[in-house]
Amino acid sequence: MNRTLDVFPTLDELIQQALTLILNRIHTAMEERGHCTLALAGGSTPKPLYEAIATQVLPWEKLHIFWGDERYVPADHPDSNQRMARLAWLDQVPIPESNIHPMPTTSGDPNQDAAAHNTHLREFFHTPAPEVPSLDLILLGMGADGHTASLFPHTPALQAGDRLVTVGDKDGEPRLTFTPALINQARCVMFLVAGDNKQAALAQILAPIADAQAYPARLIQPAGELMWLLDAAAGHALK
Ligand code: 6PG
Repeated sequence: MNRTLDVFPTLDELIQQALTLILNRIHTAMEERGHCTLALAGGSTPKPLYEAIATQVLPWEKLHIFWGDERYVPADHPDSNQRMARLAWLDQVPIPESNIHPMPTTSGDPNQDAAAHNTHLREFFHTPAPEVPSLDLILLGMGADGHTASLFPHTPALQAGDRLVTVGDKDGEPRLTFTPALINQARCVMFLVAGDNKQAALAQILAPIADAQAYPARLIQPAGELMWLLDAAAGHALK
């Protein structure tokens, strides 16, 4: 694993560096494999990043968009991660709708929708079980409790084995989420973490020893690149 950690004075500087790194990896993937597969983080931190990517000129037909997790709400719900990314970015660029692969949240049964997306990913990447596909880049956030994607502390999603997608649980609220196995197979995983409320969890996640069940972001140990981009509020104690 190739791990880097960078602390930026402001969120804006973090976003600008993330943009540069992401564009670099998008172009490399397209050159090497003809397309790029990118999974988006939800929450609030990445919104300005998505707005910045929307200003770029890219071969959008070669970019495939996934989400690392999704709230179990309709796509037009204010809490939808898909909705946030579409409004901030995807609706502003000529990316083919067939290149956008949202997590389904409409059957009424989160387990059924997780299984359907698991199948969709296996078909898209041509990776039958028990193979795990490699996305080119997965963006992740981190909560103040040390969760990432919708892998929340002490929940069954942390034991998902070689499944690609499972059902997360945030205080009884269902979510769909990539599993640690799928995230760890990515060529590059990039955490974007901002805010002083993340400091305590970060210290546990980056410590030599801590309980990964209590701090699920510790489970993210990809064979490829692992990049932590922090603002000073989150990471000043780590410099
Ligand atoms: C979600 C996210 C979640 C998020 C963290 C950080 O669906 O909310 O995927 O994992 O990345 O909770 O959220 P903020 O960026 O809003 O702090």
